[in-house]
Amino acid sequence: ELPGLSRRRLLGGGAVAAGAVGIGWGASGLVRREPHGDDGLDVVAFHGAHQAGIETTPPGHAAFVGFDLAPGVDRADIIGLLRIWTDDAARLTRGLPALADTEPELAARPARLTVTVGFGPDLFTVAGLPERRPPWLRPLPAFPIDRLDPAYTGADLLLQVCAEEATTVAHAVRVLSKHVRSLVTVRWVQRGFRDEPKGQTMRNLMGQVDGTVNIAARSVDFDRLVWDDGTAMPWLAGGTSLVLRRIAIDLDTWDELDTDGRELTVGRRVSTGAPLTGVDEFDEPDLTAVDRFGIPVIPPSSHVARARHTHDGERFLRRAYNYDDAPGPGQLSNSGLLFAAYQRDVDVQFLPVQQRLAEVDALNEWTTPIGSAVFAIPPGVAEPGGYLGQRLFE
Ligand code: HEM
Repeated sequence: ELPGLSRRRLLGGGAVAAGAVGIGWGASGLVRREPHGDDGLDVVAFHGAHQAGIETTPPGHAAFVGFDLAPGVDRADIIGLLRIWTDDAARLTRGLPALADTEPELAARPARLTVTVGFGPDLFTVAGLPERRPPWLRPLPAFPIDRLDPAYTGADLLLQVCAEEATTVAHAVRVLSKHVRSLVTVRWVQRGFRDEPKGQTMRNLMGQVDGTVNIAARSVDFDRLVWDDGTAMPWLAGGTSLVLRRIAIDLDTWDELDTDGRELTVGRRVSTGAPLTGVDEFDEPDLTAVDRFGIPVIPPSSHVARARHTHDGERFLRRAYNYDDAPGPGQLSNSGLLFAAYQRDVDVQFLPVQQRLAEVDALNEWTTPIGSAVFAIPPGVAEPGGYLGQRLFE
């Protein structure tokens, strides 16, 4: 029973009460929807040493928006834009309308909203700060598996907006985009979703448990492997990097594969996500185990065997979202993964793994990278008054 529900019912609340507690009017009268897990009012703090939206438990909806800087934009314009985004994000994430918000009602349900800003390679040139660009901040090398569409590749600026409610995401993206419209053009918008019933790992649209092996939030590993310590680029201390790969999944041909084939492709069970050498999802895969014929239980070409880090320094955070967009002409579906990886150093942590998978990965038969972008994620705004990325410009 939702707290306050019966009181609101007694008060005879119609539309207003229904909106507030997540109930609505069905054909037969008052219908209570399934409880949502939270009441849409939960807030994730905007201010802090790190930007929110990375160590934050991923909420159900995300939009990644890539912008290009308009011709003629200069360093002062970029700072102005970042001040606007900082102010808007600080308000919206608290459930307050942005300044001059034309739909202030839509700001009332922050639903764990996070706004995360990233810088693409060319921003440093436009800002006149090429020497402050981290060496790993450039397009990934071309891989033979890639079929990159320019419509989903590269960008000067990134907005990553996540929340439990799709309306909240849409409103935040709209506000943040239109407030800087004279300075940027939208290059792409990529929307995704993920569902994680409490205590469970999400499933991707191939049906697999996806995200089991990861870096725990607020752990020593997270500090060590995800957050930058400013050694190479002092301005980036507390920041990180994002590699965003849009990976199409061919569900039509995947449908033809039986469960055994699916499990050998990944190296894990579809039902539980357990490695083929274990029983529980979180059992360590044993890549050396062989069956009675001497054949490896987890195929060396399986996704898990190929993706597994060969040393500690190859680990990174995965925070993927599913996408399921409108199919093109003649297509039945247009689905895949917005694969988002966060790490201190793209070249050291992400690239060797991606290179290995591009060489051999059983999963490649059904998956195709169609978009790719790399961003530096500046640190958080420690307290009110500052703006995102401030240290870069000082
Ligand atoms: C593990 C799916 C792309 C890196 C996994 C697992 C699944 C999966 C089901 C096993 C469960 C888990 O630990 O999360 C997919 C799908 C992809 C994809 C469907 C594309 C559509 C990628 C890419 C990379 C990657 C592009 C990196 C470049 C990893 C890593 C692991 C993993 C590092 C953990 C391996 C381990 O240590 O056991 N992936 N993946 N994946 N994947 Fe992927």
